[in-house]
Amino acid sequence: MRSIRVSAAADYAATTATGWQAVPSETVELVPAPMEMQPNGFIQAQYSNHEYGKTPYVEAQSVHDGTTLAVRLRWPAEKPFNGGREGFPDGAAIAFPVRGEPALWTMGTDDEPVQFIQWRALKNEVRSVVAWGIGSSVPGTSVSGSVTAGWSQGYWTIVMLRTLAGGAEAATLVSGQTAQIGFAVWNGSNEERAGLKAVSVDWTPLEIDA
Ligand code: HEM
Repeated sequence: MRSIRVSAAADYAATTATGWQAVPSETVELVPAPMEMQPNGFIQAQYSNHEYGKTPYVEAQSVHDGTTLAVRLRWPAEKPFNGGREGFPDGAAIAFPVRGEPALWTMGTDDEPVQFIQWRALKNEVRSVVAWGIGSSVPGTSVSGSVTAGWSQGYWTIVMLRTLAGGAEAATLVSGQTAQIGFAVWNGSNEERAGLKAVSVDWTPLEIDA
């Protein structure tokens, strides 16, 4: 997947920005995050016969202007769901290794954390999360992200913006270098949250134009 150099990433903030038509799209297959890897006993007991993580793929595109990177995601969703009063909102996340070569599949390891930027339909904002393995995620260093989102004709489309610069527990992305990116989607109307989601099995290389 390539992040195309543009003059202003802010011009791509809208999900319908015409500029996106010229940006190559990568389709990444998603699979359910395995039940046997869920550390929560309640989830294992309550959801072992519940089908989840059925979102089959996510289409991803990216542009950057040397300071800000935008990632546009599009995935099939029968209907939008913001969680209502007690439910769980639709959501999506992108992941980046903070340092080293952490396994995406375990959401990082003890000394190689993974940073996530997560969108949830309820708040229509992004939050930065960091994890050193499944079960350890905590709010992470903010990368002054923003998001726009829209549901139409059976698809969610969102555009997340973040700075290329990172921080202590936030991945730093560099123009002209290749980073790694991972994906997750939560279908809220199917009670999906936390570990109940569709995920990309492995990292996708993200070539960031010079
Ligand atoms: C086999 C793969 C995976 C499993 C079994 C799994 C499991 C879990 C579990 C049990 C939690 C809740 C405990 C915690 O907060 O650490 C969680 C949270 C989270 N996971 Fe994963 N995960 C997997 C892969 C991924 C991937 C690939 C991404 C993103 C690209 C991701 C993003 C997140 C985020 C953002 C949270 C925090 C959710 C929240 O607090 O709402 N996970 N995951």
